[in-house]
Amino acid sequence: MTDAAPHVRRPTIRPRRLRTTPALRRAVAETSLEARQLVLPVFVREGLTEPRPISSMPGVVQHSTDSLRRAAAEAADLGLAGIMLFGIPEHKDAVGSGAVDPDGVLNRAIVDVVAEVGDALPVMADLCLDEFTDHGHCGVLTADGRVDNDATLEVYAEMARAQAAAGVDLVGPSGMMDGQVAVVRDALDGAGHTDVAVLAYSAKYASAFFGPFREAVDSSLRGDRRTYQQDPANGREGVREALLDIAEGADIVMVKPALAYLDVLRRVRDAVDVPVAAYNISGEYSMVEAAAAHGWIDREAAILETLVSIRRAGADIVLTYWASEAARLLRTRT
Ligand code: PBG
Repeated sequence: MTDAAPHVRRPTIRPRRLRTTPALRRAVAETSLEARQLVLPVFVREGLTEPRPISSMPGVVQHSTDSLRRAAAEAADLGLAGIMLFGIPEHKDAVGSGAVDPDGVLNRAIVDVVAEVGDALPVMADLCLDEFTDHGHCGVLTADGRVDNDATLEVYAEMARAQAAAGVDLVGPSGMMDGQVAVVRDALDGAGHTDVAVLAYSAKYASAFFGPFREAVDSSLRGDRRTYQQDPANGREGVREALLDIAEGADIVMVKPALAYLDVLRRVRDAVDVPVAAYNISGEYSMVEAAAAHGWIDREAAILETLVSIRRAGADIVLTYWASEAARLLRTRT
């Protein structure tokens, strides 16, 4: 100590003091990561008897009915915040008929999962047409091929009623049609489903990071979604979209994707009083998995750091394909 050079001023304020042991670091951690904050998105494909791997998302599958039920039961046991269901129908058509059919793959999956988990796990469903349309857009098209906002709203209303009749706890309108939350809320209330909540995909950007999802849902989309999803250049507009959705009756608002939009997430969190969710999407998942598979990063550490960063930016709830694994990791690491 005495041999320190006399011209070096010894600091009296030392932030490192609180970093010396794991227990101290835990005591002063500003952000928590807990199973109850994580939602597991899952894909269920009509007609499968065995789960089918999704090559662009290593470790994620298209579920069969049985494997979906097992995944849901595990999510409930782990105490997750919920399960978000996506359905992939055997047949797609121009108006996405499978989405409103009570026997359609998604509505049946809701029935199955609710039967499996009851009240132990909130059951959520994607409310959008892109998995069900043969052109892959989130809505129905006009004669000249544009996405028809108001005609799509009518289908969303019917979809909301079908999902509610199947027993869903929260619907997740994700198509970025103007007025979709109001229409869905009205449809639910009009059918007596006043307790079904709306988790609105409010600030949703036209992102390249959705890439692997397209394989996950066998999407037939050509082109892009830039006439309805937001321009990545726009942060203020994300806040506006969230405020509009709350005015229309959203119970939870979501920012999506998460990682390239953490600033939007923070701004939304500061601007609203409802719970805020963020979706750690397919491309964000696959980037980490691909780098880890090459041995370029420490996979588990990168997963937990990713999720805590989304929490730190302001998400109360994080949708992530790692939800169950992260919940197990958190059990052993804390
Ligand atoms: C729309 C929807 C999409 C995702 C969730 N809901 C696709 C899109 O908007 O292009 C993407 C999720 C992901 O990439 O993980 N039904």
